[in-house]
Order: sequence, then structure tokens, then C-alpha cells
Amino acid sequence: MKIAIIGTGYVGLVTGVCLADLGNSVVCYDIDKEKIKRLQVGKIPIYEPGLKKLLESLDSSKQKKGRIKPGKIIFTDDPKTAIEKSKLIFIAVGTPQKRNGEVDLSFAKSAAQTIGKFLNNYAVVVNKSTVPVGTGKLVKKIISKKYHGDFDIVSNPEFLKEGSAIEDFANPERIIIGAESQKARKIINRLYQSFNCPILNTSLETAEMIKYASNAFLATKISFINEIANVCERVDADVKEVATGMGLDSRIGKSFLEAGLGYGGSCFPKDIKALHNIALSNNYRFKLLKSVIQVNNDQRKLLVEKTKRILKNLNDKKICLWGLAFKPDTDDFRESAAIDLIRLFQKENARINAYDPQINYEEFVNRNNFKNKINFYSDKYTALKNCDALVITTEWNEFKKADLKKVKKILKKPVVVDGRNIYNLEKVKKLGFKYLNIGR
Ligand code: UDX
Repeated sequence: MKIAIIGTGYVGLVTGVCLADLGNSVVCYDIDKEKIKRLQVGKIPIYEPGLKKLLESLDSSKQKKGRIKPGKIIFTDDPKTAIEKSKLIFIAVGTPQKRNGEVDLSFAKSAAQTIGKFLNNYAVVVNKSTVPVGTGKLVKKIISKKYHGDFDIVSNPEFLKEGSAIEDFANPERIIIGAESQKARKIINRLYQSFNCPILNTSLETAEMIKYASNAFLATKISFINEIANVCERVDADVKEVATGMGLDSRIGKSFLEAGLGYGGSCFPKDIKALHNIALSNNYRFKLLKSVIQVNNDQRKLLVEKTKRILKNLNDKKICLWGLAFKPDTDDFRESAAIDLIRLFQKENARINAYDPQINYEEFVNRNNFKNKINFYSDKYTALKNCDALVITTEWNEFKKADLKKVKKILKKPVVVDGRNIYNLEKVKKLGFKYLNIGR
């Protein structure tokens, strides 16, 4: 099938590359001309394991515009090339949050307008972005103002996790298809026919809700275990073992029970607030979600308080942060715990050294309005020099494997504040560290 992808952000890019890999002819379109230029020469704007290699194997450079072969992908800033003759048109644009907490649908609306303008045959317009319930119908209305022929709308929410997106695409646990017509259902079911997982067919609205409900539930699990961790600290229990014990109950499940600094990233913080807001604007106070958000914010504050307590005060203290990404195996720092921690530490007049293996430091500073200068390093050990404490903010593998004897030698004081519980309690204590963690 010829498939158009509108938006080459995280979801659009991964979906496009993976659908081409399945044998479809894919055209990725974006309004960002610079991004498209870079993609045309194989430069990927994000770090995602396996994505570059897969894109290279699809060898898009030898393709002529508009005459794309099966199993190939091209990138264009020309909407006509992408939309015309496409059987499936995926909308994968950003849905950021407005200042008032509402979801900003301007990109989705403008994608719908573009589709309406260039559509010239029956197509299924598939929404992959996380959007408030009712957006599918809105997109339909916008398209039909410009295009009077036959087309259908489908909601097919995305559940990819950054860092394992290719793997997640190849092995989904479920595929959700919200559709209004049998014709559309048939086409999209055909696209996914080779997948060995349950395919749930629902209405548009239900599919849209499944995505929010899933993310909100996972975030609730994280805030729940963080609350348990805070109690564990007070009663000498170990939250890691508590989580293992809980997770063995198949009704609970072991995933998303890692206590730490709470959730970050481009999805959870935004989606949880959006769902809370959607409920409110429909006259319902989602009390549980309000607490989930509160607990998540507090986890960051608690860690700074702990560091302050052990160092007596933070004024002019030098803190080394290991990890700026919102989780390991990604170069994404959106809503990362590190950003909040830096702000909180700087408020207390602490000085910050930082190291992360994948983050573009310049971008990190430019996108966040920090009060004071941060010293960035290209080596994790050098970053520790003259520091009063090491704070672990992201559980990168290289931090788990770090030479702790070396860490102790370089640090001014042997203090490790582990926001992700990556070290063995006995081992670090034996090495002579003052070791603070979450819930152990
Ligand atoms: C999430 C959803 O998992 C995915 O289905 C959806 O499509 C997009 O949002 P992602 O943002 O890539 O994916 O990251 P995820 O691996 O889910 O982690 C989210 C955040 O939760 C991270 O900051 C992570 O550190 C935190 N987390 C996760 C915990 O604090 N504890 C856990 O046990 C699990």
C-alpha cells in the first residue's frame, strides 16, 4: 500500500520506517524543510536504537519522488507528493500542552486541512497522535470542508516506548483500531495482518480513550510505588523487594513498579494532565490523577531535601548529576527529572556539574531557562571533581557499571544520592559511601 505519514517526529518517523520495512511504499511529509533535507541524506534527528540501520536498509535515496517502490521510504516537504494516491494517511503530529492545561490541537488541525486540500481518492486517515476524545470526528469535519469525496477516519493509538520503539513496533501487545466504517476497518486490519497479537476493534472515541487510560494507569503505578517507597523508608522495608513481591501477583504485574524520581518524557506528564483536564471540562473531577501528578512532583523535591539534609545545607555546594535524559537509551530530555532537580538545586544556590552520554548540552540549556550556569562534561568521572555529592538521575547502564572506587576517590565527599536505586546497598556502604536512595 502507498502510505503517507504526516509529521516526522518520534512516532511518525518510527512508524514510517517500520511500515516501509513491512513492504509498504511510504512517503513521510513534514512542514520542517530543514528536517526533511537532513532525513533525505539519512540524518535522523533523534537517537533511537536500530532506527538508523533500518532506515539505511530501506535505501530511500535511489527513489524518484512520487514513484516509491514497495518496501521503500522517501521524505518530502511537498504535501501533494505524500497525500495523492495514498491509501492510508497517518497523522503523527505533536499534541503539546497549552498553558491552561488544554491540549493544543493546532498541528492536528492543520494536518487535517492539508489532507483535505490534497486528497484526490478514497483514503483512510489514521490518527496516531494522542488526542482528546472527539478529535477523530473533528479531523473528519475539517477534511470534509475541503474534500467532498469518500474517505474514512480511524484512531490507531501508538504505544511505542522511546529506546525500544523498533522492537515495540515489531512486537506489539495489542493493536487498537477505532473506526466508523467496515471498509476502513478492513484496510487497516490488512495492514496489520502479519502481526501476532490481539487486534481490538472499537469506536473512534473508545480507541482515543484507551490511549489516555493506559498511560494514566501506568503513571498511577509509578506514583503508587513511589508512595510505597516513602513509607518503606520510614519502616525499614526495601521497596525493591516489595515491588518484586507485589509483581509476582499476575493481577498486579511486575512492570512500572520501579520507585525513583518519578515519570518524565514527552508523553506521561502531558497526557496525565490532559486526561485530568478532559475530565474537568466534562464536569468530572478525576481525584486520583490529581494525586498521581502531585506525588510525581514531590518525588523530585524529596530527593533535593535528602541531599540537603546530608550535606547540612546546599549553599555553594557542588552537585554532580549523572543523567539528563528522561530515561536511559534516549537523547530526549523533555520533562526529565534532571531539569526539575537542577532548578531546585539552583534555587538553594548549589552549583551543578552534569554528565549524560547522549544529551546535546547546548540544546539542553537553550530549551530550559536555568537560573545559573551548569558545567557540562564529556566524561562522567571528570564531572565529579570537587563535588560534594553525586546524584543519579537516569539509570544509564554505564552508571550501573561505574567504578565506584574511582568515584569515591574523585568526589570531595563520599556521598551518593541515588534517585534510581541502581546500586547494591551492601556494596556501596562497604565502600564507605554515605548512600541515600529511594525507599530502601
Ligand atoms: C510511554 C508509554 O510507555 C508508551 O506506551 C507511550 O506510547 C508513550 O509514553 P515513554 O515515554 O517512551 O513511553 O517511556 P516509558 O518507558 O514508559 O517511561 C516513562 C517514564 O516513567 C520515564 O521517565 C521512566 O523513568 C518512568 N518510569 C517508568 C518510572 O519511574 N518507573 C517505572 O517503573 C517505569
